[in-house]
Amino acid sequence: MGTPRKVLQVSGLNVKVTTNQGQLQLLHDLHFDLAEGQILGLVGESGSGKSVTCNTLLQLMNQQTTVEGSIQLSGRELNGLEPKEMRRIRGKEIGFIMQNPMNAFTPVYSIGNQFIETIRTHSRLSKKEAYELAAVSLEKVNLPKPHEILKQYSFQLSGGMLQRVMIAMCMCLKPAVVIADEPTTALDMVNQLQVLRQLEQLRSECGTTILLISHDLSVIAEMADEVMVMQHGKIVEQASVFQLFDHPTNAYTKKLLNARLQLPDPSSKRKLIQMG
Ligand SMILES: Nc1ncnc2c1ncn2[C@@H]1O[C@H](COP(=O)(O)OP(=O)(O)O)[C@@H](O)[C@H]1O
Ligand SMILES: [Mg+2]
Repeated sequence: MGTPRKVLQVSGLNVKVTTNQGQLQLLHDLHFDLAEGQILGLVGESGSGKSVTCNTLLQLMNQQTTVEGSIQLSGRELNGLEPKEMRRIRGKEIGFIMQNPMNAFTPVYSIGNQFIETIRTHSRLSKKEAYELAAVSLEKVNLPKPHEILKQYSFQLSGGMLQRVMIAMCMCLKPAVVIADEPTTALDMVNQLQVLRQLEQLRSECGTTILLISHDLSVIAEMADEVMVMQHGKIVEQASVFQLFDHPTNAYTKKLLNARLQLPDPSSKRKLIQMG
């Protein structure tokens, strides 16, 4: 078996933003690769730069930001690409599940309208075919009554439902790379599992490469092949999931892992309740 093909290659990535207080560096010299079919986990405390990393890869940072370095998708440089070109890539070649689902939809069009538009921008399906595909995709993410959801507007759905709609939209385009920024944070346990299974299925059936961001280390331990730890906009450690959880080398990684161990274990709590 040969080495898996590199799908996304990031090198020397620096992101700076101009603010009223002067220039601020948000990301410092990031280097990482994503191979075909790999799930790379990205962890780090809130504010460490995980979402900035995602938005930079997708070229969604605002105009006050400068991005230096290289982001190659299957050998094609994305940094500095025309917005029109990037719009063609976003969704179809790099799918994304954003942390804040509210921002991903406009309130003026129905969910169905936006879903069908997204499918048709990137495929040759008819309106009817796109509608059917949308309905089936919604069912796959455990949203009952998909035909009703397609008629509704974003403000009529809960955050968790919108997140699942976004996941369904992302899945049905079968992109080569998926960037999932806290895809399960807004969901309850049952739906968290469902979404993780969906991501895993996408990877095993389509060879999709996934950058998975989560502050939940058990999600990362379960899903990722390799993990990067981010602190203050820098990657402080990167290793295979086994290496990182069993033999962390960086002090900050150790702190993150310890913080997790100190959280009360829900099973021991259950036992206590049963005993009491
Ligand atoms: N457009 C921006 N302008 C200035 N600062 C920003 C901008 N976007 C994010 N930041 C700052 O960058 C840091 C990292 O944010 P973020 O990537 O959202 O963290 P997280 O790891 O929680 O996803 C935070 O301190 C945030 O305030
Ligand atoms: Mg974030």
